[in-house]
Amino acid sequence: MWSLIADAVQIPGLALIESTLKLNREFLVETPVWEWNDITKNRLVGPDRHVFCKLELLQKTGSFKPRGALCVMKSLSREQLLRGVTCVSAGNHALAVAYAARLLGTTAHVVMPRTASKARITSCHDLGAAISLEEDIASAFSKVRQIEEDERRYFVHPFEGPLTALGNATLGLEFFRQVPDLSSIIIPVGGGGLCAGISLAIKQLNPKCKIIAVEPSGANSLQRSLISGRPEKLDSVETIADSLGSPCAMEYSFRVCQKFVDEIVTISDESIRRGMGVLFSCAKIAAEPAGAASTAALLESLSQKQTGPRVGLLVCGSNIDIRSFCQLADDSLTVGGTSEGMDRFVTATTSQTVRG
Ligand SMILES: Cc1ncc(COP(=O)(O)O)c(C=O)c1O
Repeated sequence: MWSLIADAVQIPGLALIESTLKLNREFLVETPVWEWNDITKNRLVGPDRHVFCKLELLQKTGSFKPRGALCVMKSLSREQLLRGVTCVSAGNHALAVAYAARLLGTTAHVVMPRTASKARITSCHDLGAAISLEEDIASAFSKVRQIEEDERRYFVHPFEGPLTALGNATLGLEFFRQVPDLSSIIIPVGGGGLCAGISLAIKQLNPKCKIIAVEPSGANSLQRSLISGRPEKLDSVETIADSLGSPCAMEYSFRVCQKFVDEIVTISDESIRRGMGVLFSCAKIAAEPAGAASTAALLESLSQKQTGPRVGLLVCGSNIDIRSFCQLADDSLTVGGTSEGMDRFVTATTSQTVRG
């Protein structure tokens, strides 16, 4: 069921990933795959590349996070479930933990930064979680330690550990079944748990499929860790993709990524904005910045030589309010390549109309 890939680093085998996917069917949905196939794709990515978007932002709670949270929380004893769970999160993980707690008949006390989106805080509240709001990430961590001690709740980590990876691996298996012959998959990285889970599944199913990890340039803990050969901490994090803003890599996810990631690229906030704009223009999808990171990497820097002809994108988070989406998304790329292109397009259309 589990096999060893390095000292004390165990990964789940396919049979276990499969049975976990089946067991979680009760609580989660199989998210669809959308093939991006239009003239904008041909112009921006090339006619010879096929692009398949795994729309995991349609998962329960709006991101892939319940896959891992459920796996971890289902492993708890009756006594642990009676005492409840806790976590720290800017949103998606808190929503997942609140959702899983409700399904498993336990309670969640989540700690969120005061700056977290109001929509995410309200959704956590609607799912029945108790919420503590803290000024910054350091005070959020001391608050959660206090909750663990005072309320004896179990701490559900946002990305680290074999059970979280097992849950995330079910997403890799599901995607493989929908599109079995991908030449590459582009996976957004925060702490690295999503990338660890998907890559360990994909490399067992289709070892030829290349795993390309993508991080914001202002939150590149995995890139630095891969260079140094050990999990690294960042002094500061700077990105519009708050869900990818982990300040550190951690041992387990790092070791799995070290084994399976073929290439890692970083992207700017500007390209994340373009990715959001392109997804909206072409698919009418409103992704949060993290959910547009794979698309951004494909548009910004990845050549056909790097990705191969059949590319999988993880579009895995939708938790953003309308106002923030409109402020962040940039659609200039979908029209003429630049906003100047947009001006030319408008002028041409206007002059045609006048002639007609
Ligand atoms: C939408 C979204 N995408 C990607 C990630 C990155 O996942 P990980 O922290 O496991 O690397 C997160 C993490 O919360 C997320 O919410």
